[in-house]
Amino acid sequence: MTFIHIQEVIPRDGFQIEKNFVPTDEKIKLIDRLSECGLSKIEVTSFVSPKAVPNLRDAEEIVTSIKRNPNLTYVALIPNVRGADRAIAAKIDEINLVMSASATHNRKNVNRTNEESLNGFKEIMEHIKGTNIKVNGSVATSFGFPFEGEISEDTVQHYIDTYLAMGMDSITLADTTGMANPVQVKRLVKKVMKQIGEVPLTLHFHNTRGMGLANVVAAIEAGATRFDASLGGIGGCPFAPGATGNICTEDLVHMLMEMEIETAVELDKLIDLSKGLPELLGREDIPGQVVKAGKVTDLHPA
Ligand code: COA
Ligand code: ZN
Repeated sequence: MTFIHIQEVIPRDGFQIEKNFVPTDEKIKLIDRLSECGLSKIEVTSFVSPKAVPNLRDAEEIVTSIKRNPNLTYVALIPNVRGADRAIAAKIDEINLVMSASATHNRKNVNRTNEESLNGFKEIMEHIKGTNIKVNGSVATSFGFPFEGEISEDTVQHYIDTYLAMGMDSITLADTTGMANPVQVKRLVKKVMKQIGEVPLTLHFHNTRGMGLANVVAAIEAGATRFDASLGGIGGCPFAPGATGNICTEDLVHMLMEMEIETAVELDKLIDLSKGLPELLGREDIPGQVVKAGKVTDLHPA
């Protein structure tokens, strides 16, 4: 039976775009509770410029203060060598190197050409030697971007080859602005799985146009088993026009449970945590749907 790994990104993708700074101790409390939910990974922060993303300016404190559950992997997103060195010093489990297949988005996001990003990654792979830290390579905007429109599959596959040649351990295809559709997802995931063989592949979908969970089903049909998702469905890249939330973790787990697909995630714990988001974030309009409607299995008095 298929086992699907659920990888939580609210502390990074979620909080980075919020209007309000989530206090550091609240972030730590939430990550510690998420660590008890049966997730495979948690992306706990990013080591980026605090000027670019002020909400994640507390990255060191987060990584060194959370309680590490040895059953899961703690990840930080990294844009450049400086960020990698900070993450290595903080002893993160895994770094997630991000470059965008869209040259325009890469410039807006990390102020680099693709070549400059890749040269930085090469240097990071040198710095990581002798540590136990794993490296995931993300190709952002793998399914399209509002400036260039469609991104060619050859371009995406070329960057994946480049990542693997550098010695990265795993790959993520990210649909940063929610442009992917299920037919496209199935096609690209099949191609990439063939290309990378046993190397773990993660799909990172945003629900910007309501296609997020449909894309998950398409990706599973193509053989994918790892998905990023954000509690409450919040999140988005501050440097991409019209960006909105990731697929919602509890909605994803609920759907997979209804489909009798195993995840090991304890849905009720996630739902409880998600119910705390309006207070934590200071807003009521959280996208997650199961929290509002209840589970399919919730019985109401007749
Ligand atoms: N961590 C902390 N500070 C950093 C840093 C890092 N990883 N990288 C650079 N800086 C600092 C530099 O020290 C410098 O500081 P100063 O102005 O006080 O001297 C400043 O940022 C500019 O450095 P530079 O190397 O010229 O960076 P830049 O202006 O070209 O910006 C990035 C490049 C990558 C640092 C910046 O675009 C960034 O942090 N982007 C993050 C994007 C992101 O998180 N997107 C969402 C997730 S996909
Ligand atoms: Zn994202």
